[in-house]
Amino acid sequence: MTTQGSPARGNNLDPWYHHYADRTSGLAASEVRALFAVASRPEVVSLAGGMPYVSALPPELVTAAMERAMTDHGPTALQYGSGQGSPALREQILEVMALEGISGSVDDVVVTTGSQHALELVAKLFLDPGDVVIAEGPSYVTALVVFRSFQAEVAHVAMDDLGMIPQSLRETIARLREQGRRLKFLYTIPSFQNPAGVTLSWERRMEILEIARENDILVVEDNPYGLLYFDAPPPQAMRSVDDEGVIYLGTFSKTLAPGLRVGWALAPHAIREKLVLANEAAVLSPSSFTQTVISQYLAVADWKAQIDTFRGVYRERRDAMLAALGERLPGLEWTVPTGGFYVWLTLPENLDSKAMLPRAVKELVAYTPGTAFYGDGGGRNKMRLSFCYPSPEFIREGIRRLANVIDGELELLGEFSQTGPLQVRRERGVMTPPANIG
Ligand SMILES: Cc1ncc(COP(=O)(O)O)c(C=O)c1O
Repeated sequence: MTTQGSPARGNNLDPWYHHYADRTSGLAASEVRALFAVASRPEVVSLAGGMPYVSALPPELVTAAMERAMTDHGPTALQYGSGQGSPALREQILEVMALEGISGSVDDVVVTTGSQHALELVAKLFLDPGDVVIAEGPSYVTALVVFRSFQAEVAHVAMDDLGMIPQSLRETIARLREQGRRLKFLYTIPSFQNPAGVTLSWERRMEILEIARENDILVVEDNPYGLLYFDAPPPQAMRSVDDEGVIYLGTFSKTLAPGLRVGWALAPHAIREKLVLANEAAVLSPSSFTQTVISQYLAVADWKAQIDTFRGVYRERRDAMLAALGERLPGLEWTVPTGGFYVWLTLPENLDSKAMLPRAVKELVAYTPGTAFYGDGGGRNKMRLSFCYPSPEFIREGIRRLANVIDGELELLGEFSQTGPLQVRRERGVMTPPANIG
C-alpha cells in the first residue's frame, strides 16, 4: 500500500519493506521452507530435520527435576538470574565438558539460550559487514544464516572423511589474505559434523589449531554431538588443548532436550566478559527455570546412562539408514557417521537435489538439499539425510522412496539427454567406500 506523501513506503506485501536494516537481506526464508511444511505431514517420511528423538527420554526424569526445581528452589527458579547463567549449573557444565577432555574455570562458562544463541552472540561480538568467516564446506545451515545476518561472508574449506583438510585451510587463508579480506574466525563442528556426519581426526585438530595460531585466527568449536558416539568416543575437543584461542560451544539439546533451550559457551577469559554483556543485552538472563530443572536433573538422574540410551537409539537408526542405502542406492556415495545424526549423500553429477525435492515430497519422502549448507551455491548434487527422528522402519521406507525418486529423475534426464538413458543411469551393484565430500 503506497499512500500519497509517502511514496517510498513498502510494497504490496510488506508496507515496511524500505525500513529494514541492510543486515536483514540475509534473512530470506529458504526456498524449500514451504515444502518442509508439507513434509511434516505424518504420511511423509522426513529425513530432513535434525530433531532429537526426545521420546527416548523418560518423561518422569524431567517431571521429577521440575518438581524439585519448584519445591526446593522455587523463588530463584522463577526469578531473573545472572546474565552469565546459574553458578550451580556452570559447575555441572564443567563436569559434562570433562567427558571430552576439557578443563576450564566456572568463571569462563556463559550459559545461553541454546548454543544457537551463543553463535549469535559470538557473531555479534566479532563480525562487521564484509568480514569473512571460514567454515567447513558444507556447514551448519543456521550458523550460515547468523553469519550472513551480520553481513559477513563465509569461505568454505573442503573436507574429506577425516574432516576439514588442513592444506585447503592454508590455501583458503592465503587466498583471502591476498585479497585483503578481514578474517574473523574459523567456525568448525569437529565431531559428527552437521551436515556431513564426518569427524575431524586428532592429528588434523592439532594441525588446524596450529594454522589458526600462526594466522591469528580465533577458532569457534561447535560441539553439539560429541557425546553421541556409536562405538568409540571421538578425539578430544580442540578446546582441551587450547584455552586461549578457542571459543567452545556446548548444548543440552541433543543429550537431554532441545525444548529446554539451554546451551553454553566456554570462552577465553577476555572474551567471556563481552559475551556476558552481550547476553545481558539480548535476554537479561537465560531462563532461570530451565537452568534449575537441568541442574536438578544432572544432580539426581543418571544422565550418563540416559546419554547411553540415546546413543543406542541413534546407532540403530544409523545402521538402518546405511543398510537401506547399501541395498537401494548402490553406486552412489555417502558418508559413514560414527556418531551424531547425519549422512551426506552424493547424487550423480547431473542431478540437482533442490530441483528434485518437490518430486520427492510428492513421493512422500523429504531430505535437505545440499545447497542449504553452502554460502556459495555449492552442494547442488548433495543432500543431507537425518536418521535421528524416524524409526528404523520409516528410515528403510524413506530410502526406498528416495531411490525411486532418484531413478525416476535419472530416467527423465536420460529421455531428454542426447546421449540416452544409459549414459546417466547410476551404476548398480557397486558398494562404494565413504565418500570424499570436498
Ligand atoms: C552444529 C549445530 N550447532 C548448533 C545447533 C543449535 O543447537 P541448540 O541451539 O539447540 O543448542 C545445532 C542444532 O541442530 C547444530 O546442529
